[in-house]
Amino acid sequence: MEKVNVGKDLKLAPVAVGTMGLMDWGLDVNGLVKRIHEYIELGLTTFDLADIYGDGECETLFGKALRADPSIRDQIEIVTKGCIVFDKKRRPYFGAESWNLTKEHLLSACDASLARLGVDYVDLYLLHRPCPLMDPEEVAETLEEIKTAGKTRNFGVSNFRPEQLKLLDAYTDIPMVTNQIQMSVRCMDFLADGTQEDALVRRMPLMAYSPCAGGAYFRKDLSQEDYETVGVLKEIQEEIGAETLDEVLYAWLYRLPVKVIPVTGTGKKERVLRAVKALEYRLTREQWYDILRAAAPAHVSRKYHDI
Ligand SMILES: NC(=O)c1ccc[n+]([C@@H]2O[C@H](COP(=O)([O-])OP(=O)(O)OC[C@H]3O[C@@H](n4cnc5c(N)ncnc54)[C@H](OP(=O)(O)O)[C@@H]3O)[C@@H](O)[C@H]2O)c1
Repeated sequence: MEKVNVGKDLKLAPVAVGTMGLMDWGLDVNGLVKRIHEYIELGLTTFDLADIYGDGECETLFGKALRADPSIRDQIEIVTKGCIVFDKKRRPYFGAESWNLTKEHLLSACDASLARLGVDYVDLYLLHRPCPLMDPEEVAETLEEIKTAGKTRNFGVSNFRPEQLKLLDAYTDIPMVTNQIQMSVRCMDFLADGTQEDALVRRMPLMAYSPCAGGAYFRKDLSQEDYETVGVLKEIQEEIGAETLDEVLYAWLYRLPVKVIPVTGTGKKERVLRAVKALEYRLTREQWYDILRAAAPAHVSRKYHDI
């Protein structure tokens, strides 16, 4: 499987394996080692983690697998993220989530991720969210410090809007090689908020999280809106000869002009492989628009008047 150039010195697999739900995959350390090798053999070498997944447990389990089989490290690309803070003790009634891009927090979050993973560096470190309180000068200094210490090979962002990326550009020469955002048939904000255009200008691939809309179209109790979208997806599934509906969800993303690397969420290998299979399809413009029309959120309609 051909890898995707992400920035100057980084190549990622065309499909990244997301690990937010890793603790529910039913794998112990040996099971995870085996699964990682199966993915590597299939060319799925990119793993997406974050310090908050499972409250650190996902990185810890992944790190145990890396320690159990040190041959894995050099065969994979590790993506992880820092910034989100859950302070469960302070105000438990609303979760007290905040986003922290201060130097103090980011340096310690990055160190903690490396310690849990048991590695000296990650391949890509993402700023998980833009923080309205961030001081861009301080963020720039922090990135420089992490880079100089060799703790990541590359930086990127997640959930940043184009103007927030531009803000970072103004304070640092370190390139942000990707933006990981929510992208799916059910979440098309990226079409209306300039994110796709920004990525194209930067010649930067986007990493698409929740590409299957978190499983929304596979639920038994579909809303009327989703039910209608599923009807169109099923028609197109038949037209292109796809075996499953999720292949159509991935194919819709692959048809965009921007390079999209989906970050899968499923714990099932055969479902991850649907994302790979879908690389073979190319939806016609009409099929792509039929899906957009069926699922089209109002803001897309407003931006592209005739849709
Ligand atoms: N950067 C960020 O802010 C951010 C935010 C959220 C997630 N992420 C990353 O993106 C990854 C994916 O996110 P996600 O979990 O929302 O992705 P997703 O692939 O849209 O959703 C995964 C869910 O959909 C279900 N599903 C997928 N295909 C299915 C099928 N064919 N039939 C039935 N159910 C199906 C899965 O169930 P099964 O497991 O049973 O297959 C799972 O519950 C995460 O693991 C994480 O790495 C990043």
